[in-house]
Amino acid sequence: MADSPTMTYGGYLRLDKLLSCQEPKTQAHDELLFVIIHQVYELWFKQILHEAALLQRRLEEGNSAGSLHTARRIAKILKTVVGQLDVLETMTPRQFASFRDALGSSSGFQSAQFRELEAVLGRRAFPASDLRDDERLQAALARPSLFDSLLRYLAGRGHPVPAEALSRDTSTTWEPDAGVQKVLLSVYADENGPAAEVCEALVDVDEGIQEWRYRHLKMVERTIGAKIGTGGSAGADYLRSTLFSPAFPDLWEVRSQTEEVPSHGA
Ligand code: HEM
Repeated sequence: MADSPTMTYGGYLRLDKLLSCQEPKTQAHDELLFVIIHQVYELWFKQILHEAALLQRRLEEGNSAGSLHTARRIAKILKTVVGQLDVLETMTPRQFASFRDALGSSSGFQSAQFRELEAVLGRRAFPASDLRDDERLQAALARPSLFDSLLRYLAGRGHPVPAEALSRDTSTTWEPDAGVQKVLLSVYADENGPAAEVCEALVDVDEGIQEWRYRHLKMVERTIGAKIGTGGSAGADYLRSTLFSPAFPDLWEVRSQTEEVPSHGA
């Protein structure tokens, strides 16, 4: 801590650097908000990836309380980033149109950290253009996904996770599996148990990402309508195709399989 007597707020946070990174390309008043909100998102993506790595380590170590804490933190961050869309939605279509041209072909579509997060969550099929030169994404694809770590965690707690699920080729897309769903149902039978709570926290994370996708789409619809995206996609139509696809489908599927308990009515 030799630095501490001279350490300043601005020095510790590297504010000189941080606050020199906002360089709107036009004189349009609203462009600064657009730049800052994207930068803030990228910082949160960085934090989510940092937490997700810890979550995977904790799951692999069989640490229930730690996993729960970290999964809940990720879910809270997702709530926060979804909430930030409210701020951007104060920007009218005309205000966005006043600087959109200056964005050229840049788009959140090219967010390497967002793609890496998708890979951590289990996405395995990416367009070749997304994979080019991105070592972190390649590394995430080569590692087991968060759901693979959950399966190992459950197996470590004595749940009979099918051996094929544990030894699968984790570089391929996970396919929902009836045997795993049976295990999840038995985990949920003790619904206040640590494993069930960890599973529920992962459902919160999954729902948080889906909520972000939905709110981002709505924001896009109200800001640019049906115009094509700066990143070259069909815009809202493309984003609609990404909705309602859970990262952990088995955790959702077991809800349909939960047995109804007969009521004790008259
Ligand atoms: C006015 C604000 C915004 C508009 C009009 C907008 C528009 C779009 C459009 C049209 C796409 C589809 C790809 C394309 O062709 O460009 C897209 C993708 C994306 N945007 Fe935005 N966006 C906005 C704000 C944001 C913000 C604040 C973020 C936060 C990082 C963000 C992150 C993303 C991501 C990650 C994708 C890729 C989604 C996927 O492929 O599943 N966008 N955006």
